[in-house]
Amino acid sequence: MPDQNQPVPIFDLTRQWQEVRDDVHAALERVFATQQFILGPEVAALEKECTAYLKVKRAVAVSSGTDALLAALMTLDVGPGDEVITTPFTFFATAGVVHRIGARPVFVDIDPSDFNLDSHKLSAAITPRTKAIIPVHLYGQAADMDAIRAAAGSIPLVEDCCQAIGTEYKGVPVGGIGAFGCFSFFPTKNLGAFGDGGLVTTNDEALADRLADMRVHGMRPKYVHHFVGGNFRLDALQAAILRAKLPRLPGWIAKRQAGAAHYRELFARAGLDGKVRLPEEIPGRGHTYHQFVVRVERRDALREHLAKQGIGAEIYYPISLHEQQCFAGLGYRRGDFPESEKAEAEVLALPIFPELRADERERVVAGIASFYL
Ligand SMILES: Cc1ncc(COP(=O)(O)O)c(C=O)c1O
Repeated sequence: MPDQNQPVPIFDLTRQWQEVRDDVHAALERVFATQQFILGPEVAALEKECTAYLKVKRAVAVSSGTDALLAALMTLDVGPGDEVITTPFTFFATAGVVHRIGARPVFVDIDPSDFNLDSHKLSAAITPRTKAIIPVHLYGQAADMDAIRAAAGSIPLVEDCCQAIGTEYKGVPVGGIGAFGCFSFFPTKNLGAFGDGGLVTTNDEALADRLADMRVHGMRPKYVHHFVGGNFRLDALQAAILRAKLPRLPGWIAKRQAGAAHYRELFARAGLDGKVRLPEEIPGRGHTYHQFVVRVERRDALREHLAKQGIGAEIYYPISLHEQQCFAGLGYRRGDFPESEKAEAEVLALPIFPELRADERERVVAGIASFYL
């Protein structure tokens, strides 16, 4: 019988560790035996396995999701004087990388149904300086890619897939739709390394080659530099760990999706309609539930109420990017992106990791019901 007083964590990686332990130990031993720690055959093998899983021509493993985005924009020659359109309701890195290379992040408000770039508002933000557009498959749900692509015309799309590995848009894995797909292997992601890691995907061989050079200071062959890149390399230990975990990813995603379906049943039974707005399921727009995010009134008080019962819940993200102090120079003001500002006050992510038990989800919903009913 599960203990009703045990906390329900927002995520708990120690449970997954029990499952992968033997395979990870074997993978680490393999790398230790070679003493080859940077790039090399493990990274190449991971890239090959990722191209098969993500159904893309090329995959280049890099040092983080942030560096995946940075390297992709650098490969597209984005720089000073350029504009890059994205959403203000995302993790900071999506816009931070644009600023870092001297370009200007231009924000377009989100569609409240899916928290993604509102394609209807995109055209109005495009100018002759727009060099790229970054749709974000936020929380693991595919953005409205056909509509975004139609509005973008020939402007390259850099998909921010950092929360969406394995997500499908109309049956096609995200990351292979735009010019580049950028993934994160941060430990809490659906496929997590034991440290930082990332991946860039593309179906364009020339872009892939340039990006692979970008990862090693624009170098090819050794000590000959054609352009200035960075050190965006993934190390072999992380690659070996990710290879041990990748075959399990479809099963973990299925468990997240089953957990989401269970939450829907529990919320329907609890009679919380009108109090708790569940994530919308949209045809063709796959969701791998990196996060299960509800919208609620009196969100902060609810979160405190849950915390008192030992139930974890998180806010992704409490401050829209146009309101961040570091972007004050962009000249945006509160009120510019009302849907993003509304979302920042209402969203609450509930525990959804694959190993979460049914009784724990029951406790989460009961905890929410005890606040509103
Ligand atoms: C939407 C989004 N973009 C970018 C990133 C950056 O990835 P990383 O933390 O691996 O640099 C993350 C992850 O934290 C993310 O969630």
